Amino acid sequence: MAPKTGMQIRKAEERDLKRVMEIERSSFTSPWPEGLLRGYLGEDGFLVGEDGEEVVGYILVGLRIPSFFSRLERRTRLLFQRRDETDPELHIGHVMNLAVAVDRRRRGLGSQLLRAGLGYLRDLGAWRVELEVRTQNREAIQLYRKFGFSIERLISRYYSDGDDAYLMALRLRGNP
Ligand SMILES: CC(C)(COP(=O)(O)OP(=O)(O)OC[C@H]1O[C@@H](n2cnc3c(N)ncnc32)[C@H](O)[C@@H]1OP(=O)(O)O)[C@@H](O)C(=O)NCCC(=O)NCCS
Repeated sequence: MAPKTGMQIRKAEERDLKRVMEIERSSFTSPWPEGLLRGYLGEDGFLVGEDGEEVVGYILVGLRIPSFFSRLERRTRLLFQRRDETDPELHIGHVMNLAVAVDRRRRGLGSQLLRAGLGYLRDLGAWRVELEVRTQNREAIQLYRKFGFSIERLISRYYSDGDDAYLMALRLRGNP
């Protein structure tokens, strides 16, 4: 059995970006550009897992509303948004990215990161979490199923290379 690791999870910082990009490039056929990930630095939903000094994985989650809004005081937010804060559409979480270093997989790290990301979304008030995953990505689909996500529909040619995605969703609690 692969050895257990003592991964600590914390907010991503500028100094992590190089390693995050290494993992990103070795994990995806169409990796995110560095500038896109850089744009999420400072967000509470951008988390890295660190084993000793080494970043071994990361997750990026957020509500559908720009997280800028989620940090504002409620009344200020409503002024900006002019939408009813109870609108369920505003409380749908999204798993935007998740990866574990190739040589660290299958040791529970992806699960730890996902658990942390879902916990954060729950704290933000998300009642439902959605994500897109390539239909051939057996490992990830299996991981999400283990957490209770189910496939809701197929999104044809979702990816720029023409691959299809499944929309998977998890209900965290009753619709607000
Ligand atoms: C998906 C990913 C994050 C999983 O990370 P991980 O650290 O290996 O995951 P875990 O060790 O926590 O595995 C949790 C569960 O996922 C499933 N799983 C993970 N790897 C698997 C594999 N190679 N084959 C089948 N199931 C797998 C299993 O159900 C596993 O539970 P089990 O070990 O009790 O059987 C990792 O494979 C990865 O980085 N893949 C490339 C990037 C990616 O596809 N990200 C998801 C984008 S939507």
